[in-house]
Amino acid sequence: MPSSVTTEPAILDAMELTSDPELEVRFTETAHQILVDLVSGGAALGWVEPPSRDEVADLLGHIVSAVQAGDAALRAAYLDRRLVGLGYWLRYARPTHRPHADLEKIAVDAAAHGRGVGRALTTALIADAREAGIEVLTLDARGDNTNALRLYGSLGFTEYGRLPDFVAVGERRYDKVFCMLDFRRQS
Ligand SMILES: CC(C)(COP(=O)(O)OP(=O)(O)OC[C@H]1O[C@@H](n2cnc3c(N)ncnc32)[C@H](O)[C@@H]1OP(=O)(O)O)[C@@H](O)C(=O)NCCC(=O)NCCS
Repeated sequence: MPSSVTTEPAILDAMELTSDPELEVRFTETAHQILVDLVSGGAALGWVEPPSRDEVADLLGHIVSAVQAGDAALRAAYLDRRLVGLGYWLRYARPTHRPHADLEKIAVDAAAHGRGVGRALTTALIADAREAGIEVLTLDARGDNTNALRLYGSLGFTEYGRLPDFVAVGERRYDKVFCMLDFRRQS
């Protein structure tokens, strides 16, 4: 874990997180708390009810295994030695989609919003994808998630489609917005 006090987020990768078993356990616990708090506050992260600790541990374990297989990237953001955010992408499993990956979750602790953490995490994950030779990095977002969509747009993602009123949260319906970053079209 970074040792100095800083106002810039320190971004760790999966190898750094798993190199210290104690750090890895603390990462899982705090990541679970961040996700629970965000989902409880209505964040659009794919859950309606806050995930259990086991569900988050299973998810993170799956991602770390995929990182080790070269099929994912996981990044964690620390501010002043405190975990404040995480994000990951996973390569598509379908054989015909293998050159591509999906940025599945970016989550920043609400208390740290607006301090550049989401931007730093997403920038690092884009760099990881480019380095891994990913051809197209996709993501989807709920249509009312304007902060996230603005962030992705500023980093080069473009909308390629949308399913109207597709995301169901109780009786409410929201558009599902599909975005992509095509590295083949970049110099
Ligand atoms: C979306 C999210 C990851 C952004 O993280 P963040 O650390 O607050 O974002 P940053 O401080 O890095 O800001 C990055 C950009 O996001 C947008 N943004 C973030 N907060 C914003 C706000 N309150 N108002 C307007 N735009 C905002 C801006 O475009 C900003 O660009 P700027 O740096 O040029 O101002 C964060 O709000 C979050 O975790 N939300 C809940 C979970 C979620 O919705 N994840 C995305 C699922 S698709």
